[in-house]
Amino acid sequence: MCGIFGFVGKHDALSTVLSGLSRLEYRGYDSAGTAFFDENDAINVIRTTGRVQRLTETAPKTNAGGAAIAHTRWATHGSVCERNAHPLSAGRVVLVHNGIIENFRELREELHYTPISETDTEIAAALIDSLYDGDPMEAIAKAQKRLHGSYAFAILFRDKPGVIYATRCESPLALMRTEQGSFLSSDPSAFPACGEYLVPQEHTIVEITADAIHARGEVKTAVLNKLDRSEGRQGYAHYMLKEIYEQPQALRRTVERYLVDGHVDFSQENIPDTLFDGIRHMHVVACGTAMHAGLVSSHLFRSLAGVEVTAHIASEFCDAGVLVDDDSLYVFISQSGETADTLAALRRVKAGGGRVLSVINRRGTIIERESGNVLHTSCGPEIAVASTKAFTAQVGVMYLLAIRMACARGRLDAQGESEAIASLLAGVDSVAPAIALHPQIAAMASRISKAKDVFFIGRAADYAIACEGALKLKEISYLHAESIAAGELKHGTISLIEPGVPSVAYLTRKQTCSRVLLSVQEILSRGGTVYLFATEDMEVPEGLDELVVCRLPAKEGAGAAFSAAVSLQLLAYETAKQLGMPIDMPRNLAKSVTVA
Ligand code: AGP
Repeated sequence: MCGIFGFVGKHDALSTVLSGLSRLEYRGYDSAGTAFFDENDAINVIRTTGRVQRLTETAPKTNAGGAAIAHTRWATHGSVCERNAHPLSAGRVVLVHNGIIENFRELREELHYTPISETDTEIAAALIDSLYDGDPMEAIAKAQKRLHGSYAFAILFRDKPGVIYATRCESPLALMRTEQGSFLSSDPSAFPACGEYLVPQEHTIVEITADAIHARGEVKTAVLNKLDRSEGRQGYAHYMLKEIYEQPQALRRTVERYLVDGHVDFSQENIPDTLFDGIRHMHVVACGTAMHAGLVSSHLFRSLAGVEVTAHIASEFCDAGVLVDDDSLYVFISQSGETADTLAALRRVKAGGGRVLSVINRRGTIIERESGNVLHTSCGPEIAVASTKAFTAQVGVMYLLAIRMACARGRLDAQGESEAIASLLAGVDSVAPAIALHPQIAAMASRISKAKDVFFIGRAADYAIACEGALKLKEISYLHAESIAAGELKHGTISLIEPGVPSVAYLTRKQTCSRVLLSVQEILSRGGTVYLFATEDMEVPEGLDELVVCRLPAKEGAGAAFSAAVSLQLLAYETAKQLGMPIDMPRNLAKSVTVA
C-alpha cells in the first residue's frame, strides 16, 4: 500500500527521507516521489514510476537540512505514471497521501479546479490551498470538515520552510522525535531507531519542526522496542524464500510462546476464558491468505471445541450484512494489522457490540489498537508481498485458540489437551522436513510453469489449503489458478480439464481419501495431470501416468496443514522463479492493503 515518510532536521533531509522510504518498499508500490526545501527555501519535487532506487539516482546531491516528505504510491485513482505520482501540488500546498478521498469529484466541481493529475490527492491539496490564509493548521482543520474518506497526509506549505504538517483519518501515521530531528512515517518500523513514538488520533493535526512536534488534538504514545529490520535477505535470492525457510523457527516461536507447563496459556495477552462463555458460533473474518488461515483452522473449532465456525472474506462480511450477535465470537486475522477491509469489518462488529479477538503479526497497528483482545503471531517481519510464514503462524495460533476454547468449554480434559498439543507440535516439526521437498517440488514447477490454467482441489480442510495454493501461485507467477472443492469439480469446472491441464490435489484425511481419489481419477481420465500431495498414511495409487505423488512428511490430521502449506509455497515460488517473475513485489499487489 502507499507509504509516507517525512523528516525535519538540521542535516540532509532529502537523503534521510529517501532511506526511510526504502524501508517502506515492502508495502508494495508502483511509483515514488519526494518534495523538499532546498537551500533557498524553495520546494523541489522529484517523482518517478518504478523503484525508489530510481528516485535516489535522480535526486540532487544536497546537504540542505530543512523538511522533506516522500511517498511510495500504490495506484488507486489514476494510472501508474509520473503525473499521478506523489507528492502532488496545488498552489501553495504540496502533499503526500495514503488513503482514498471518496468525494474528490464533488470537491473538484465545487472548487472549479482543473487538475493536472487523475488523482483524488491533488483535489485534497487544492481544497487545503483554497482554505489557506496563512495559518496551515486552520486550513487543514477546515478541509477536514469537507473531506470524506481515509487519509494520512504529510503537507508542505511553500511559505513555511522547514515545517511539515500532518493529519490522519483511518490511515496509519506515526511520529518520532530524535536528536537528529523529527520523523513521520506510515509505519513505525521505518523509523531509524527504537524508542517512544507518537500516534496522532483521528483528525489530530500536527506541526513538525526539527525541535518539536505540536499537536492540535489527541496524540497517544507507543514504543518501538525492536527494529524489525530483517537484516536484508541474508543470502536468499528473495525475501519470500527466506521467509519460507524461516518457518520452522517462526512457527515454533509463535506456538511455544503460548505453551506454559504443557498447557495453552493466553494470560500474557490478558485473554480471559470468559471471552468464550456462552459462545455458540465463531466468525473468522480476514482477507486473502489470512482468510485462508481462518478457513483451514475452522475445522478445528468444530472438532475440538464443538463450536460452529464461519470463515468470511472481510469485504463480504460487511457487504453481505452478516448479523452481529452476542453469543458469537468474531476473530480477525491480519499479518499487517492495517488491512482496510478487515478493519472495516472489525469496526462493524464493535459497533454491534460483538465480542472481538484479533490475531496479528505486526505490532503497533490500527487493528491491534482497536481490537482489545489480541493474540500475536511471532514470526517477525514478513517483507515479501506473498504471505508465507505469517500464514503458518496464523494457523498455529488458531490451533492453540481452538484447544484453549475446548478446555474452557470442558470438552478437553488434561489428557485431551496434551494430545491436541502433541498433534500441533508434530505439525510444527513437519515443517522442516517439508522444506526438504524443495527439489522435488521444483521439478513439478518446471512443468506447471508452462501451463495456462492450474486447478487446486481438496476436501474440507484440504480445500482450504487448495484455496491458499491457488492464491499463492497466481499472485506471484501470474498464471491463472483456481481452487475447487474436489466434490464440486464434476458440477462444472471439470469441463475445463483437457490433456495437459495440471491440477494440484491435497489429501491429508483418511475420511476423504476415497472421494478425493475419485476426483483425481476423473481428471486423469480426461488427460489432465495431477500433482497429489498426500500424507504418509494415505493409500494412493502409484505408477499411474500423469499422476505425480509427493508425500508430505506428516500423518493425517490438522497438523498436516503446516507441511501442506510449505509445499504450496515452494510450488508457487519455484514456478514464479522459473517464469522470471519479480517474486517479492508482484505487479499490482501491496503488502498491506490499506484501502477498502
Ligand atoms: C497473501 O499472500 C497476500 N499478500 C494477501 O492476500 C494478504 O494475505 C491479504 O491482503 C491480507 O493481509 P493482512 O494479513 O495483512 O491483513
